[in-house]
Amino acid sequence: MKDSSFRIEPLGNRHRGLFCCGVKVLDRYFHRQVSQDIRRRLTACYVAICGDSDRICAYYTLSACHIPLPDLPADITRKLPAYPTIPAVRIGRLAVDQDFRGQGLGSALLVDAARRVIESDIAAFALIVDAKDEGAVAFYEHHGFSRLNVVAGAQTLFIALKGITARLESK
Ligand SMILES: CC(C)(COP(=O)(O)OP(=O)(O)OC[C@H]1O[C@@H](n2cnc3c(N)ncnc32)[C@H](O)[C@@H]1OP(=O)(O)O)[C@@H](O)C(=O)NCCC(=O)NCCS
Repeated sequence: MKDSSFRIEPLGNRHRGLFCCGVKVLDRYFHRQVSQDIRRRLTACYVAICGDSDRICAYYTLSACHIPLPDLPADITRKLPAYPTIPAVRIGRLAVDQDFRGQGLGSALLVDAARRVIESDIAAFALIVDAKDEGAVAFYEHHGFSRLNVVAGAQTLFIALKGITARLESK
């Protein structure tokens, strides 16, 4: 982040305050649903806390998933064993509060997600994301993600994790 006065940590019992990214479905999920999903072990959620305040300025979620091998491009599958599916981790949701946009927080969350997965004892080949619209697709493509080979119009993107943190940090 260009202004380094923030930290990223698990959501825990922290009060979610007035967090607002302006995308209803992402705001509603954060305020009403995410804690239940965490309790049920359906997702993990990490938040960026800005400055010395307790204000949440961004969040993202991570869950286990898999990619059907044929959904990956041929130049990648050529180097992989012919398993039916490949292990991955999904960034289900990622959002930055409107008051904190354009300061590098979105990039910082992606780097944090990649680090957590790479440092985990459980292997995953790639991060995947479900972009909510073409604007979000552009954000992820800017950070090196590529579309999976799925049906036309689908907005699921992936990035292989090998060597990824240096690449994301250079953004
Ligand atoms: C998309 C979003 C996460 C970006 O967060 P942000 O903190 O404003 O972005 P950053 O400041 O980290 O931007 C980092 C880089 O991405 C680029 N970028 C940001 N949004 C972009 C977009 N929509 N398309 C292409 N590039 C984008 C920036 O220009 C910047 O590039 P640079 O580092 O080369 O200068 C934020 O706008 C948001 O929360 N939007 C609403 C929710 C959403 O769309 N979530 C996406 C997942 S569904």
